[in-house]
Amino acid sequence: MLRKIRIQAAFAGSFALLSAGAITAAGLTIQLPPETADFTPGPGVQLAEQNCKTCHSADYIKTQPSGKPFAFWKVEVEKMKKLYGANIADADIEPIAKYLTAHYGDGK
Ligand code: HEC
Repeated sequence: MLRKIRIQAAFAGSFALLSAGAITAAGLTIQLPPETADFTPGPGVQLAEQNCKTCHSADYIKTQPSGKPFAFWKVEVEKMKKLYGANIADADIEPIAKYLTAHYGDGK
């Protein structure tokens, strides 16, 4: 399932390239864009990798407005668990939120 979603995301990302003229008469050439869906390395990155990429790519996190505080990210992680059914252990919520705040939030 994970693999399928990633392929779809990559394909959606390459749509612009396709329409920009990568289709040749001889066949279909697909140029994939550079991988942008990975998390920035740092303490806690493994938890984010394990818990936050099963349904969507890291782009969902990276495209949030920058400078958000810990409270924002904690609510976001809780929302994934409670609203969308992400299988995140309660003990991992704060460490994940800390990681996200450090790399995609206000760093505090
Ligand atoms: C069970 C599936 C699932 C998992 C696992 C998951 N998410 Fe999501 N996430 C969603 C869905 C569904 C949406 C809403 C998609 C939409 O509206 O297009 C979403 C959207 C988001 C958004 C966009 C803003 C928003 O609130 O809609 C962010 C940021 C986000 N997720 C962060 C995370 C983080 C951080 C984790 C890991 C802790 C995570 N997600 C894990 C399902 C999941």
